[in-house]
Amino acid sequence: MAPAEVDLTVYPDECDAYGHLNQAAFLALFERARWEMLARGPGMDFFTRQGLWPVVRKSLVEYHAPSFPGDVLRFAQILVHLGRTSFTLRQTARRLRDDALIGTAELVFVCVDQQGAPVPVPEALPQVMADRPLAGNLRRIAVNGVNLAVDVRGQGAAILLIHGYPLDHTIWDHPLAQLDGWMRIAPDLRGMGQSDAPDLGYSMATYADDLLALLNTLGVDRVVLCGLSMGGYIAFEILRRARERVRGLVLVNTRAEADTADGRKARDAAAGQVREGGAAAIASAMLPRMLARQNAAENPALSDRVYRMMAATPVAGVLGAIGAMRDRPDSFPVLPTLGGLPALVIVGDDDQLTPEDRARAMADALPGARLSVIPGAGHLTPLERPEAVTNLLAEFLAGISLPA
Ligand code: MLT
Repeated sequence: MAPAEVDLTVYPDECDAYGHLNQAAFLALFERARWEMLARGPGMDFFTRQGLWPVVRKSLVEYHAPSFPGDVLRFAQILVHLGRTSFTLRQTARRLRDDALIGTAELVFVCVDQQGAPVPVPEALPQVMADRPLAGNLRRIAVNGVNLAVDVRGQGAAILLIHGYPLDHTIWDHPLAQLDGWMRIAPDLRGMGQSDAPDLGYSMATYADDLLALLNTLGVDRVVLCGLSMGGYIAFEILRRARERVRGLVLVNTRAEADTADGRKARDAAAGQVREGGAAAIASAMLPRMLARQNAAENPALSDRVYRMMAATPVAGVLGAIGAMRDRPDSFPVLPTLGGLPALVIVGDDDQLTPEDRARAMADALPGARLSVIPGAGHLTPLERPEAVTNLLAEFLAGISLPA
């Protein structure tokens, strides 16, 4: 098995006239790190032993911060997608001294034989790369051809916590830790967090199928759905496909209607930004609207956490989610059909992305739903007002009747 990390030193001859690590050297260091990990693991001839060679089909390198001679960079790599003849690696370079993220690279390889024809990826590749460390309480569960990273805690009736874009399951840290008496299931969606990020194959239907398959694997028949923003769009899709499996619905900082024509154009512009500037470009563009203005001004640590989460999203996952959101159907007509389903709508009073009037419209259209507007919160209420959100969820769950 290849080591998960390798440290390389930046030399003066790799730097430009001002002393910064230059672009060509950066690419060489990423490449060097990949081969070094193979050399220290299964051997540098891992591919040639099997009569094939991995050729780069696509690469995207993001330069996050300058680096200087003498810096020691820690390179890590993870296998973010495994296809039949192709695979995707994501590499990161962090400065050892201060853990600053210096650069990331995402590379799609196709395995070819000596004639240049595509051949299957070596069977041993996942094992060779399998030491991708999963942080915290996460486990890896294979569904629909991808590995999802999932945090599962507690026993009892289940609540599925679905994050938004371009985020990960950690937005639910507080309710995950606190909602005793319930099985809390918080996955990273495909393309985000620590889940696989295939090159193609994103839609609301695919996300919903992934999550229904995940519930099947966990042996969970019925759930309370709780989705934030894009997580809400996915909840609507689950309701369309499997209403009978849902025992309650919590819509957090989301909207039911589809994108307008202008909204779709903005999605295409955002995709262009990501192709040009990587996930960091979208993270910088979105950050000012993610938190309530007061929280953004007074809580730089939270802003930084949200920025890092967004900027760490694989490009394939960001592009996939943008397309899936652009093409999602109008879910407003679903709402009046949900009579009898306990429902709660939560929004922050300074949500600039899915404002209060959208939440109110959903609560009005959902028979019997309760609306809760949380003061001092923006688009990420579970991170901005975690206790308030967990208390609302606990109260809502306590009101759900469960079979004896
Ligand atoms: C999200 O937070 O999931 C997104 O902002 C939703 C959207 O862009 O429609």
